[in-house]
Amino acid sequence: MALRKFAQRVALLLPAAIVLILTLTACAANDPQSTFGVHGEVARTQLRLFWWIFILAVIVFVLVEGFLLYSLFRFRSRPTDTTLPKQIHGNTKLEIAWTIIPVILLISIAIPTYIVIAKQKDAPVDPNTIKVEVVAHQWWWEFKYPELGIVTANELHLPINTVISWTLHSDDVIHSFWVPKLAGKIDVLPSRVNAGWFKADEVGNYYGQCAEFCGLQHAKMRFRAIATTQADWEKWIAGQKGKPAAAAGLAAQGQALFGAKSCVLCHTITGPDEPGVQEGRMNSFRQQGKGAFAGPNLTFFAERGTFAGGIIDNNTENLHGWLTDPNEIKDGNRMAQLAAVYDKESGVSLSAADVDALVAYLQSRKFSTGQ
Ligand code: CUA
Repeated sequence: MALRKFAQRVALLLPAAIVLILTLTACAANDPQSTFGVHGEVARTQLRLFWWIFILAVIVFVLVEGFLLYSLFRFRSRPTDTTLPKQIHGNTKLEIAWTIIPVILLISIAIPTYIVIAKQKDAPVDPNTIKVEVVAHQWWWEFKYPELGIVTANELHLPINTVISWTLHSDDVIHSFWVPKLAGKIDVLPSRVNAGWFKADEVGNYYGQCAEFCGLQHAKMRFRAIATTQADWEKWIAGQKGKPAAAAGLAAQGQALFGAKSCVLCHTITGPDEPGVQEGRMNSFRQQGKGAFAGPNLTFFAERGTFAGGIIDNNTENLHGWLTDPNEIKDGNRMAQLAAVYDKESGVSLSAADVDALVAYLQSRKFSTGQ
């Protein structure tokens, strides 16, 4: 009999234990996207606020559930009961208490929350602040540094201990900008510009991703915030401000194809040998109402570690796969859609040799050394 009772108890507790273990394993602070392993001032303040509200909630939970369980046990009906318990109605003291206590609780949550929101709305005044314009697209991120004249995609470079003040807007639908270890989340809307800031205090790659469902490839809309030392940051800026070397050999063939095929309709590559943005073609295409025209700027494509919305490593094999059939990697992406429409009209498509040449060209788009 005792054994059966024990087995019953285990059967009851087991599902709860499994849920608890699964929940707690999601809280590892070294997880690349954990909001508990913070590496920046903004995320740290948000975490502190979280803990404050969480602790208050736990105290309320324990007290309320404790009283509830005590009452259930203490005043339970017994087989020996012959009459109803004494019926009471209202208790002024208790009612005043359980009105005032929640008011105090709500005030102690509202004030710190308001302070944090107000503090994080505007970047602190700092002459070294770097401005970044974040533009969300289905399904990749564009990062513009207006004061530096730099445009890049999916990899947001920043120096540590420096305020990065961003404005955000969307090119299409609603997205949400989120770097769990640094800051977030902030809605990215097509109809208005939102703003925020963060500061990284350690060198590292911080994973970010879209946190608002935005269509088929929402899950593959990632990016990296790459925090570097001041020296590495300056090197990156110098590289970005330079020009990639002129394409030669197979890369030069790729460059010609880049201009001749539909690539140049959406992607900008600048440099001494830029194919140029062929406005005429873009405009005639746009007038036909074939969709938005923005693809990642590929000027220094070879300097990036990932592509296609930060989901795959930037290597020869993946580039081949992407150019051959982007839908295979990211179904529904705009490059495949637009290329299909355009190439059908112009009668061009990419052969295996074309892909080889384009890969060579893209891989030659790197910082030139002796600048
Ligand atoms: Cu963009 Cu989800």
